[in-house]
This record gives sequence, C-alpha cells and structure tokens, in this order.
Amino acid sequence: MLDLTVRKIDVDLSQGFGRHWNGGDAYRTQLFNALSMTFPLGEQLFIDAVRDVPEACLRDPVLRAQVKDFVGQEATHRHQHVQYNRELERQGLPYTREEKLKKRMRRVDKLGVLNRLAITCALEHYTAMLADGALRYPEWLQGAEPQMRTVWSWHAVEELEHKGVAFDAYVAAGGGYRRRVLWYLHASAIFAIDAFMQTLHNLRNDGHLFKARTWTGRCASGSGATGWRGTSCGRRWPTCRRASTPGSTTTGT
Ligand SMILES: [Fe+2]
Ligand SMILES: [Fe+2]
Repeated sequence: MLDLTVRKIDVDLSQGFGRHWNGGDAYRTQLFNALSMTFPLGEQLFIDAVRDVPEACLRDPVLRAQVKDFVGQEATHRHQHVQYNRELERQGLPYTREEKLKKRMRRVDKLGVLNRLAITCALEHYTAMLADGALRYPEWLQGAEPQMRTVWSWHAVEELEHKGVAFDAYVAAGGGYRRRVLWYLHASAIFAIDAFMQTLHNLRNDGHLFKARTWTGRCASGSGATGWRGTSCGRRWPTCRRASTPGSTTTGT
C-alpha cells in the first residue's frame, strides 16, 4: 500500500433516510446505526493519536504521507457520520452511551502517545474486519437504500486502504508488542460492550425490544397474528396489547 485516496462522496444525509434503511430489517439497521454513533468520537481519537507522533519518528516519507492521508480519510468519515447521527436523533434514536464514551475519551487523552496509538491499532483492526465483512458479504447490506450503501461501502473501502497506517506509525514511534496486546484486549471488551448495548438501546427506542416478554394475545389489527409482545404484528406493543382480547395478557419470564 503506497497511496491513499481521500474521497469525497456526493451524499447528503441531512435529507434523511428510512427508519429501517437496511432492507427494512430493524436489527441490521440498528446495529449499523449503533456503529455510526461511535464513529465521530472514535475517529477523533485516531486522528489525534497519529497526529501526535513526533515528526522525528516519521522519517519514512511514504509513512509520513500515509499518516497525512489517514487523517484526511478519517476526518471525512467523521464529518459524514456526524450528519448521519443527526438524522438518527431526528428519528428519535439518541446516542445514549455518548456521555460514557466522552468520559472515557477524556481519560484516554491523558495517556501518552504510544498508549493512544495502541488503542487506535486495536480499533482500526476491528473497523478493518467490519469493512471486509461489509464488502465481502452482500447480505450485510442487502436491500439497503442506495445512499446508505454508498456511505458504508465508501467507508469500508477507505478503512481497508488505511488499515495498517496506525500500526506502522506505532512501530515507527517505538511501540512494542506487549503494550499493543494489552490495549487490544481492553479495547476489544469496551468496543464489544458499547456496540452491543447501543444496538439494544436503538432497538428498544425503535419498539423492537422490551424489558419482559408479555403475551400479546391475538392482535386485532387484522393480521390475525399472535405471540410474545414485539413479535406479533409489527405494531407497537401497547397498541397491540390494548387491542387484544381481555384476559389474554399474561407476563412471561
Ligand atoms: Fe473511518
Ligand atoms: Fe480507520
């Protein structure tokens, strides 16, 4: 990998997109939305970490150019995902874990450059794996709205393009194996928990997840469906519950 390209895409997400833009599938949509919510803060961390590598460590002109383009690519992603996340807020999907992440970022900011680079290497490893999946498995974005497919495919291509830059900068700055592995374990746990919890929050705000399972009885919406709440007819559960036959509602475990 020698040259990185900082691409500008002609997508204006301020015009809005569908509530279930990913093929009408709430679960796939809310997982991708949860990832988008984490990107602006995460990408700012990556940018700051590689920018803080001392000039003297970047003696290789190729690596110096790649670091500059890495910053350009991540800054463009950040800009696009800020717009994306504003639309999610308009849809009633707030980033509920934002304060937790900001607090964590304030602690990370106080770490030395090698530690911040090691965290960046770990998270860049995950973004590269996700990017590879998004491009390799068409079912991940099957039926997605064209503009959303463009955003995710564009981001995926650039993540794969620059996946080794933070690692190369880390090595050039004198970073070692043990530090990188320790931060990798830590960052993996945090990333997995954050992405999972935010997906759950999104699904709950979207009306697809509930605290306890409750039998809805037969839905009176005309679909004739019965089942546990949230699964019966696609209508919000309280509506469905009110419409069900009296006496048919019991709380499950
Ligand atoms: Fe990115
Ligand atoms: Fe990246």
